[in-house]
Amino acid sequence: MLVKIFSGAVSGIEATTITLEVNILNGAQFIIVGLPDNAVKESQQRVDSALREIGSRIPGRRVIINMAPADVKKEGSSYDLPLAIGILAANEQLIPEELENFVILGELSLDGSLVPIKGILPIAINARNENFKRMIVPKENANEAAVVKDLDVYGFSHIRDVVDFLNQKKSVEPTAFTLDQTQQEDHIFYDFKDVKGQENVKRALEVAAAGAHNLLMVGAPGSGKTMLARRLPGILPPMTTEESLETTKVHSVAGKLSRNCSLVTARPFRSPHHTISNIALIGGGTFPHPGEMSLANNGVLFLDELPEFHRAVLEVMRQPLEDRKITISRARYSVDYPANFMLITSMNPCPCGYYNHPSKECSCSEGNVQRYMSKISGPLLDRIDIHIEVVPVELDKITGSQEAEPSKSVRKRIIAARNIQTERFKNHSGIHCNAQMNSTLLKEYCPLSTQCLSLLKIAMQKFGLSARAYDRIIKLSRTIADIEQSTDIQAQHIAEAIQYRSLDRDSWGH
Ligand SMILES: Nc1ncnc2c1ncn2[C@@H]1O[C@H](COP(=O)(O)OP(=O)(O)OP(=O)(O)O)[C@@H](O)[C@H]1O
Ligand SMILES: [Mg+2]
Repeated sequence: MLVKIFSGAVSGIEATTITLEVNILNGAQFIIVGLPDNAVKESQQRVDSALREIGSRIPGRRVIINMAPADVKKEGSSYDLPLAIGILAANEQLIPEELENFVILGELSLDGSLVPIKGILPIAINARNENFKRMIVPKENANEAAVVKDLDVYGFSHIRDVVDFLNQKKSVEPTAFTLDQTQQEDHIFYDFKDVKGQENVKRALEVAAAGAHNLLMVGAPGSGKTMLARRLPGILPPMTTEESLETTKVHSVAGKLSRNCSLVTARPFRSPHHTISNIALIGGGTFPHPGEMSLANNGVLFLDELPEFHRAVLEVMRQPLEDRKITISRARYSVDYPANFMLITSMNPCPCGYYNHPSKECSCSEGNVQRYMSKISGPLLDRIDIHIEVVPVELDKITGSQEAEPSKSVRKRIIAARNIQTERFKNHSGIHCNAQMNSTLLKEYCPLSTQCLSLLKIAMQKFGLSARAYDRIIKLSRTIADIEQSTDIQAQHIAEAIQYRSLDRDSWGH
């Protein structure tokens, strides 16, 4: 008998429905057609062993399985369960009536138990969009799929339970989604109130967080750069539902969702070590998977000690920083991963670390300072909206007992500013904040008065700012105006934004 079973395949972070047609004919052969990879072909062994555990087996006849559409690559072991169910139904050991309402996924181990798989969330979203009502997945994946509304998700630990459920011998309730409580960010581990002084750097981090702008901190060893960056997660605004789903999709595909975290609700803060390889940062590999840049989607990618990273690694960041996505091409297909992250970086100003230091003498020659700076290429620097110098605070201040503003109250201002942006971009899908504005949006939402324009012009000439810095300054001013709850961009907003371009100035290193 010919039966149809529905399943799903993921490419990038989007999914397509896969139809498995299973037929049993006279003969003796097991054939799978429709662009399956080796792991799919090997499923015959796992399926047979699992079926034997429940007193069945792959019939010793000609079993033909067609996976459609034929042009979509089917990878991995997630088709074990739908294949096993298809074979049982084709062999009339299972009532197939209801099968067309289900999307089925899961890897089988040899004893018939179900093993969790990657990429459940995009498949569940696609299933709901294609009007499927029910989904069968391994128990560990059930909560992840249950995030999707209007889809009944049933989680099982053994193929026996799936068969009993489909034969209506056992009734099972769909999984009710539960949000992991440990992710609620009320508890702030690293608080801004521990950082003495550094008001200007804190302000720069506040502006960066409010509009998701990229930021570079330049300062002497021990000036507090790492300390300040570690405190950024505590002031980031919560994610909107749309952002949360976007980020969870990437983590789902990468298999990075932990057992008790089915929906990423806190913005990611990724801080890879400087020895990281190209592939680990960007994504790729034989079976393409997302890298750190994509795992940081809608959150922060923190690269501490920027000049220590391999130059090649830094250069490949240029394209994703512009396009906010990464395309990985293979001979026969290509996949896209989102890379909508906020880049936070730090570096020393020179090899000895004390250039521009208020009390210590820098022992580097002028050429050495410039050579050190040039490790960060101009085009990369250009993509960083905020450059800020971190000057060590005096000893009196560090030892003083005065407490600084806590992260909680800084975060309130940031949330208010971000709410303005959510409202501003509500009709622009995929755009959530000011940093993501393209030039058309910039023109629409950032009109400048003649006073602002002339101020900008004077500053550009005086500080020798590059023409490319122009748009960045306007975007930043928009965010500063949002923090101030000001509808218009005013001269003082432009003036503050100009200060954040210190490395563009012709004077640096001379
Ligand atoms: N403003 C400050 N308030 C309180 N503590 C500070 C401050 N600045 C520095 N410190 C102390 O100095 C330590 C060193 O700071 P941190 O490691 O952040 O420096 P850094 O700028 O990253 O240095 P490096 O360039 O060597 O990596 C901090 O852990 C903290 O204890
Ligand atoms: Mg450091």
